[in-house]
Amino acid sequence: MNRKWTLMAVVSLSTALVASTASLAANDDEGPLHVLMEKVNKSNGVLRKGTRNAIEYKKTFKKVEEEAKELAKLGKEARPLKDAITSKTPPHDKWVKLADEFIKASEDLATIAAKGDSQQVQAKEAFNVLTKTCTNCHNDYKVEE
Ligand code: HEC
Repeated sequence: MNRKWTLMAVVSLSTALVASTASLAANDDEGPLHVLMEKVNKSNGVLRKGTRNAIEYKKTFKKVEEEAKELAKLGKEARPLKDAITSKTPPHDKWVKLADEFIKASEDLATIAAKGDSQQVQAKEAFNVLTKTCTNCHNDYKVEE
C-alpha cells in the first residue's frame, strides 16, 4: 500500500516536471514558424550552393532536387500557420497566397533538377524566382528586430 502511493507520487511529480519543461520551451520565442524558418533557411543554403555554377550543379543536382522538394514540404507546413498574422499585417489569405507561390517555386526547381540533362542556368533562374518568394513574404510578415 505505502509503496504504491510513493510510486504514484513519483510518477505524477515527474509528469508535472515534463509538462513544465515543455511549456518553458514553448515560451522561448521559438514558435513553430520560427523552427520551420530555420529549416527553410538551411535548405535554401544548400540550393544556393548547388545552383551557383555549372560544376557544382552537375555534381549535386540530385541533392538540389531533394532539397527543393523538402522546401515545398516545409511550405505546406507553414501555409496554415497563423503565428505571423497581426493587426499590422495583411490577413491570412494573403499569407496563404504567398506560401503557395513559395511552394510552387520550390516544386518548379525540383522539376528542373529532376531532369538529368537540365542546365545550371535554368536551375539558377528557378532559384532566383524562389528567393523572390521569400522576400515577398518577409516584406509583409517578418518583423524587423
Ligand atoms: C509565407 C511566408 C514566408 C515565406 C515564403 C518565407 N518566410 Fe522566412 N520568415 C517568415 C516570417 C513571418 C518570419 C519571422 C518569424 C520568426 O522567425 O519567428 C520568417 C523568418 C525567417 C528567418 C529568420 C529565422 C531566425 O532564425 O530568426 C529566416 C532566416 C528566413 N525566414 C528565411 C527564409 C527563406 C530563405 C525563405 C525562402 C527560401 C523564406 N524564409 C520564406 C515568413 C516567410
